[in-house]
Amino acid sequence: MWRVKPLDAILATAEKKSLHRSLGPFQLTMLGIGAIIGTGIFVLTAEAAQKAGPGMILAFVIAGFVCAVAALCYAEMAAMVPVSGSAYTYSYAVMGELLAWMVGWALILEYAVAAGAVSVGWSGYVVGLLENALHMDIPNTFVRGPMDGGLVNLPAMAIALVVTALLVVGTSESATVNTFLVIVKVSALTAFIVLAVPVMNMEKFTPFMPLGVTGVIAAAASIFFAYVGFDAVSTAAEETKNPQRNMPIGLIGSLGVCTIFYILVASGVIGTVGAQPVLGPDGAGLRPGSPELSAACAALGDAQVVCSKEALAWTLREIGWPQIGNLIGLAAGLALPSVILMMMFGQTRIFFVMSRDGLLPSVLSKVHPKFHTPHVITIITGVFVALFAAFFPVGILADISNSGTLFAFAMVAIAVMVLRKTDPDRKRPFRTPAIYLVAPLALLGCVVLFIFLPNDTKLMFFGWAIIGLIVYFSYGYRKSHVAHGSPETHELDADVPPPPVPPVV
Ligand code: ALA
Repeated sequence: MWRVKPLDAILATAEKKSLHRSLGPFQLTMLGIGAIIGTGIFVLTAEAAQKAGPGMILAFVIAGFVCAVAALCYAEMAAMVPVSGSAYTYSYAVMGELLAWMVGWALILEYAVAAGAVSVGWSGYVVGLLENALHMDIPNTFVRGPMDGGLVNLPAMAIALVVTALLVVGTSESATVNTFLVIVKVSALTAFIVLAVPVMNMEKFTPFMPLGVTGVIAAAASIFFAYVGFDAVSTAAEETKNPQRNMPIGLIGSLGVCTIFYILVASGVIGTVGAQPVLGPDGAGLRPGSPELSAACAALGDAQVVCSKEALAWTLREIGWPQIGNLIGLAAGLALPSVILMMMFGQTRIFFVMSRDGLLPSVLSKVHPKFHTPHVITIITGVFVALFAAFFPVGILADISNSGTLFAFAMVAIAVMVLRKTDPDRKRPFRTPAIYLVAPLALLGCVVLFIFLPNDTKLMFFGWAIIGLIVYFSYGYRKSHVAHGSPETHELDADVPPPPVPPVV
């Protein structure tokens, strides 16, 4: 179980598979921004406020910092091992099959659960738009999950199924569509900043940390979700021109742009409508996505940003820009499905590589005869995403997703250091600067954020890991292609679904 897939075999695989290398630094940065900006900033800003109050600004900085150091580690790996599968593949080469399996297993949480979270976020904005622009009265019963004051979130479920259908018939978002949607998202955030920041009232920033430093770090652990997605850039390594140079630019560039936007948007929310949490009778902050917070918000007439499912649109309506608020809702409604698409595509891609390696049944990488897509795994993924979206609140899904992502990032931080020791002479087109500072910081950051996730999220993560171990020892351990001494036998062209990554033409 400690067997590794030799780096040379991985690289030979990448050479053999001639995916077209078409992406340059600009497209990669756009790809990153396209995957990053989504439910996190549009929706979870409210949850961050509920956990940290105005101190959520610091939460954005902390989460952005952890992502930046993790991205620097990712960039070294992505440039050195420019193949699909991201953290899973890197771990396979460096830390052995068992850990690689656990990383791949954790990435299921990252991608599939995140797709569910973004679906719920989409639903919040679309419902808000219908209610405010078209004055429809939609009962919560059908647009919120059971923990959030409803029964089933039908719009969230529907969008997840629509995206699944698009992926099955082989919709690959073109670079042009991605660029258009990035412009839509960036324009929406820019409009928000332009309208909110100039009318900020600095008094709204006090008390700055009503729930203390722990509240701020807990908010960082949740808002980390807003930055997830930059690793989608690294999964496109095989389709990148000069990955050695362009990968790091794409990773760090997209992260940098998003961080600046997030800090400005968060300031705009705090400085205009205030961001004080709703407290329970014991003075503690109520948990976002909990029935208690739903009830407290209902009693307050939902008159606080922390109660809103569409924080940015709500804020603009409050400060006298209802039409622009609706436009922001429209922008989110248009753009978030592409984040869902990317997350679900990332998921099928990871499953695909794992099944190619023999760790999952090969039926999962079956390709549809007409659509040439891995339809089996896409449909299975889609059904689960739709169920998550239908029944869970966005914050809880985001936290679960974060637990998987933090684990995967921590593993990459370790892998990059291990490889410096074990394989010092391998060509490293991009070297993480000050690696023995940056990689331990990334590792520490991931561990700290993980610790500050809610307890039930951590329990869920460990439960999921145990299931993963059972699956590995009852299946992958015996079936692994590497174990059979044939790490490449699976590299048949027919195994490779045609559209490599969604945003590529
Ligand atoms: N970062 C992505 C989002 O916030 C996952 O929706």
